[in-house]
Parts: sequence; structure tokens; C-alpha cells
Amino acid sequence: MFRLRSRGSAKVRTRIKAQSARFSFGGAAVVRPRVQLELTDRLCRAVGRPRDSVALVTCGTLGVEVAVGLARNITRVRDGKRRGDILTSNLSYHGNSALTLALAGNHARRPREADGLGLGPAFPAPYAPTHDHDGGACDASCAEEVAKAIDGRGAENVAAVLIEPVNGTTGGAYVPPPGYLKRVSEICRDRDVLVIHDEVLTGLWRTGTPLASHHWAGAEPDLVILSKGLGAGYTSVAAVLVSPELAPLLRHKDADPLPAMGTMAANPLQAAACLGVLDELESLDVEAFAARGERLGAALRELPDLGPVKAVRGLGYLYGVEVTPGLLWPLMEQAERHGALFYPFTGAGRPQSEGLVVAPPLTSTDDDITFVIAALRDAVTALSWPHPAAASTTAP
Ligand SMILES: Cc1ncc(COP(=O)(O)O)c(C=O)c1O
Repeated sequence: MFRLRSRGSAKVRTRIKAQSARFSFGGAAVVRPRVQLELTDRLCRAVGRPRDSVALVTCGTLGVEVAVGLARNITRVRDGKRRGDILTSNLSYHGNSALTLALAGNHARRPREADGLGLGPAFPAPYAPTHDHDGGACDASCAEEVAKAIDGRGAENVAAVLIEPVNGTTGGAYVPPPGYLKRVSEICRDRDVLVIHDEVLTGLWRTGTPLASHHWAGAEPDLVILSKGLGAGYTSVAAVLVSPELAPLLRHKDADPLPAMGTMAANPLQAAACLGVLDELESLDVEAFAARGERLGAALRELPDLGPVKAVRGLGYLYGVEVTPGLLWPLMEQAERHGALFYPFTGAGRPQSEGLVVAPPLTSTDDDITFVIAALRDAVTALSWPHPAAASTTAP
């Protein structure tokens, strides 16, 4: 989502260039390149989990798959028997493999029943239309839905709850009510169920903090998956972080040898690019960065006054602009005319909710933020209102 301007990072380029003169590849079963060790160490410190162990893979989907495998392995070694179930919410996206599509609750991307491996989302997300916290007065009791889902299957069958701590593109940047993630963690801990945070989209400052879960105390997961913000478009990568309390179980003699390392897992060029991304993130002027995010959020929150926009939510550099159903593509077209490309989202409900994800680069300047606000505002204003394509929002 942005006007095209060739302004790549010199820090990343320099790192890649220096590494490409050394080694560009190392078979993961045989070597652990030094540059990769430097990356995992720095990454863990950057997200405030300095004692974690890390598996590096090549994309978010694979990161989720590996996290699922690790969680099952951990619980099996810990309990001496299998716990296989992975529970997700009905507004979630965790990747495009057969397993992750079957597990998640993305309405538009769910496989046909016969192809769904018998899996599916297990609990309602704490968002509309199931839960509506618009008034902001939620006591997070909606987290009890997670308890119900675990208890309904028997906790002894459940390896982990897999959750996006801030919702991404299935629903559009919904933020959970305060206390929700903490309560989910408590519910899981009481039942020896692991918590996996899918921060493929939200990790590494997208929501204004290193991890989205940092917005709330007591919300730390057992495993966390990072991806998009780590490669920042320079390389294809994901990292699965495992807490120091659990990682030793994966080295236990009873642990299964897992395919946590594919052929490309020890790719030194990938590690060099990620180190350059961390260089960029660490050189951000944190105050100015936060102020730009707040300015963006404040300007977007004024859009509903213009008619076609139903709601705006999000935080940091991640917002969902929900429009009246039927108006997503007319708005995308208008935005393109004003020089900005956005990522569309769909959610739940009837008609299904829809809108734009507004997630500018974290290195955006003040001018960039001004541009994106103006482009979107002009695009919304250019839509005639009431619009002929607008669907009725009354549920049948
Ligand atoms: C929350 C979340 N998890 C997993 C994925 C899958 O990542 P990838 O597309 O890199 O496989 C995505 C991608 O959009 C995502 O947003």
C-alpha cells in the first residue's frame, strides 16, 4: 500500500552485499552460519525475549507450521503422550498451506469441507459480529470462550491455542479488549495448553511496539512467530521463538526430530538482510515514529464523518478502515486514482464486512504519512454518497 518510490534501505543493501561476497548458502543440517547466530541473538533482544530459542524458516506459513509441530512435540515430551489439537478463532488467518488454511477462520479462504482435514476454528474471536466492544466497556469475559473450547475437547487433547494478538487482514486490525490476551494466557496455563502468538503481520513494531502483545501486561506467549517485518520485503523469512522454559524439551532424548529446518533455513543472505532491517528499526527515532503513527490513526478516525466509512480501528502503523459493504472495490479504484494501493480485508457478518488495511512502511516520513492520509481522504470524498453499490447492512 503506497506510492512507488525507489528508496530502499542502504543499511540492508550494504549487509547483503558484504554477505554475498562471503557465503550465500549453507545446508541447514550441517552448518549454522555465524551471521544467522548473530541474527537470532539480536532478534530475541529486539523483541524483549533474550533467552528464547529460534527456528528460522522461509515464510509466515511455514513459521506457523513449524510452531504447530514444535508445540505438539513439546507437549508430548512434557506429558509423555500426544496432545495434538491446535485451537484458533473464527476470525483468523495463519497461512496458505493445507494445514493452516484448514485450521484458521478466514471465511473467504476456508477450504471446502471435504478438503479441510476435519479441522476448523474453535472459538469466536472477541470482535464483531460475535462480540461488540464498541462502547469499550468489556471485562474480557469473552476470553471464557477459549476455556469453553478447550474444555469441550478435553484439555488433554489440546496442544496449543494459536492466536493473532492484534487481528490482521481477516476482520481488519481489530484490537482485543484490555485483559483479553492475559486472560487467554491464564486459561491456557491452568490447563497446560501452550499459547502461540502469530505475529507474522504484527511483529517488529507494526503496532507501535516490538510485539503486539507488549500493549498488555501478562500477555506473553510460549511461542511467537515473526515474519513480514523481519524481512521487510528484502528477503523471505520467518522466525519461531520458543520460551527458555520450553525449548530444552525439544532437545530431550524423547523429542521427535522435527523438520524445523528446511534446505533454505540457514540462508546467510537472508540473515544478512534481516540484520540490516534490525539496523533500520534500531535507528528509528522512537518518539517521532510514535507521533507519526498517532497522527495517522487520528486522521483515519475522522473518515467515518464522510459517509462510506463505517469504522476505523487499529494502532501504531496498522489500521483497518471498514466501509459499507459493496464499496470496497469502488474505494480501491478511487484510491488508486489518487496514487495509493491498499490491501483489502474481509471479515464476518452478513453482508460480510470489508475494508482497507492501512499499514504504511515503518520508515515513512512525515510527508509520506500526509500523502497517505490525503490520498485516502480524497478517495473517500470522491465516492458519491449514498452510493449505488452499497449493500444493505441489515442481516437477513
Ligand atoms: C497473521 C498471518 N499469519 C500467517 C501468514 C502467512 O504468511 P506468508 O504469506 O508469509 O506465508 C500471514 C500472511 O498474510 C498473516 O497475516
